[in-house]
Amino acid sequence: MKILVTGAAGFLGSRLIRALLAPTAGPELSSIVAADLTKCPIDDRRVDSRTGTITGENFIAAIVDRDVDVVFHLAAALSGQSEAEFDVGMRVNVDATRNLLEACRRLNSAPRFVFASSVAVFGGALPDIVSEDVALLPQSSYGTEKAIAELLVSDYSRRAFVDGIACRLPTVAIRPGKPNSAMSSFVSGIIREPLAGIDSVCPVPLDTRLWVSSPAVVTANLLHAASLSTSALEGKRAVNFPGLCVTPAEMLASLERLGGAAARARVRCEPDQRLMRVVCTWPGAFDVSRATRLGFQRDVDVDSIVRQFMDEQTTHPGNETS
Ligand SMILES: NC(=O)c1ccc[n+]([C@@H]2O[C@H](COP(=O)([O-])OP(=O)(O)OC[C@H]3O[C@@H](n4cnc5c(N)ncnc54)[C@H](O)[C@@H]3O)[C@@H](O)[C@H]2O)c1
Repeated sequence: MKILVTGAAGFLGSRLIRALLAPTAGPELSSIVAADLTKCPIDDRRVDSRTGTITGENFIAAIVDRDVDVVFHLAAALSGQSEAEFDVGMRVNVDATRNLLEACRRLNSAPRFVFASSVAVFGGALPDIVSEDVALLPQSSYGTEKAIAELLVSDYSRRAFVDGIACRLPTVAIRPGKPNSAMSSFVSGIIREPLAGIDSVCPVPLDTRLWVSSPAVVTANLLHAASLSTSALEGKRAVNFPGLCVTPAEMLASLERLGGAAARARVRCEPDQRLMRVVCTWPGAFDVSRATRLGFQRDVDVDSIVRQFMDEQTTHPGNETS
């Protein structure tokens, strides 16, 4: 089996590649083309790191090998950058996705195309619990770009150019390393920073509902998206990944339980209206019955998410992507 991962040097891309390299009972892995602006940090003879921008058609042609079986398309301009730099977001999240799909269309057989979408495709007046049938009304350029790309994945699949699945990821926390350009960056920051002895700010009200999943569960779910039978999707190529509905208050209570009162005391709440205008339009809870039926997993509780991060920091201290 030959796999292409775009965004391979990123947080989820590098985790996904580590998971793909782990021994499994599934089809034997021959190689992974790891495409990103920078070199994939994983050193393994099966990982073929190719650097360049997916906004370049030549680079797209250079990463889509004729015998690729599965494409994980994770490269993206994240929400903060897409809002600040409209043209960059459109080029990376829409134009490059279309070009990548086009390159897949030219292959002899349609590869599985796993696209990392986001719950940011939803917005506007939403029910308390969002079902699969709620209309997409994104309130950000990032959400709009992901929604456009989802429709492309769906139509390229209907035409059998690819066998696609658009995975609407919850906010993935806790992300190691430094704050990033995602508007949801604080969700990790309010746990990661205080545990490292650094003060942190929560820019949304403490009772804001957030839809969150751990990196381990999201990685497992992306792998599942690559192997499930897409006939089970019944033509609906987008799936809302399971998550947990948590508030910053609940996350901070977990921080206090697991990291101590001194860590909790390092976080203060300072609402940022600009950020709230986007983040507070994201849905806080989903009906996950379809995703569960399809075999996707969810985290047990907020403590397990915080504990996963603390355990990884102990085993890989200072690692930015793992
Ligand atoms: N992490 C989350 O909370 C979350 C939530 C919802 C959706 N997603 C989606 O999951 C995917 C992975 O997210 P992540 O958290 O790993 O982000 P990340 O920023 O860590 O990784 C994205 C990678 O894409 C690469 N990239 C950006 N522009 C590129 C270009 N022009 N050419 C080649 N590579 C380029 C970056 O260099 C980076 O390594 C993204 O599509 C993101 O939108 C993530």
